[in-house]
Amino acid sequence: MTPSRHFALIPAAGVGARIGADCPKQYMPLAGKLMLVHVLDTFASCAAIDHTYVVVSKEDGYIDEALAGAKHLADRVTVIHKGGATRHQSVLNGLQAMRGTAGDEDWVLVHDAARPGLTGELIEKLIAAISDDPVGGLLALPVVDTLKRSDAEGRAEATVPRDRLWAAQTPQMFRYALLRSALEKASEVTDEASAIEALGLKPKLVEGSPRNFKITLPHDVALAEMHLKGKP
Ligand code: CTP
Ligand code: MG
Repeated sequence: MTPSRHFALIPAAGVGARIGADCPKQYMPLAGKLMLVHVLDTFASCAAIDHTYVVVSKEDGYIDEALAGAKHLADRVTVIHKGGATRHQSVLNGLQAMRGTAGDEDWVLVHDAARPGLTGELIEKLIAAISDDPVGGLLALPVVDTLKRSDAEGRAEATVPRDRLWAAQTPQMFRYALLRSALEKASEVTDEASAIEALGLKPKLVEGSPRNFKITLPHDVALAEMHLKGKP
């Protein structure tokens, strides 16, 4: 039997409404490089990753120029112009486009374009922790803050115990066939692990890093640049 390969799949078909930049946020420059190019470079320079697929919207007018400025990525990255209305749909469209290339048992690492702080070390840590796992898993961070549930007026009505609570990150790593069928069956989910959980399976939680946070709001940009300076 041939050993399983590892493919990265990057959903990058969002518009970045909450950050409100004048382009989709994955194309914002950060510390001298476009956000998406940071992510593609990290996967391209990770020896464990066989190939990277990036899903952009059908009408994306930025990807060609982004890749023209990153010629070293040409044979490491394939663009799929088939974004969906939601992240869930974009990932599913990407998986369907990989049919024929990815084998059922190959691993797929789904990673948000909006998390440029990912490092090769974190990818390798995830792969090492998951490679022999029957289910798959994801990077995540144990919750450290005291958690409050509010009432409708924004007043704390309860303190939620935080033991065993984790904040999910990406990459989320599952075998191709399992992931595709889980996402096909799931009603709208915000990450891959939720679709796997809906099958009654338990994805493994692997400790990630605060630097792998998702850029969502304008004030996230300065912190991301701080982390990315010093990264090649
Ligand atoms: N994404 C996608 N297709 C969509 C929506 C989101 O591929 N229809 C991608 C985004 O490009 C991003 C990742 O999913 O890489 C995480 O989504 P999020 O941070 O919510 O990005 P946006 O949806 O672009 O931002 P916003 O929700 O503020 O509009
Ligand atoms: Mg979104």
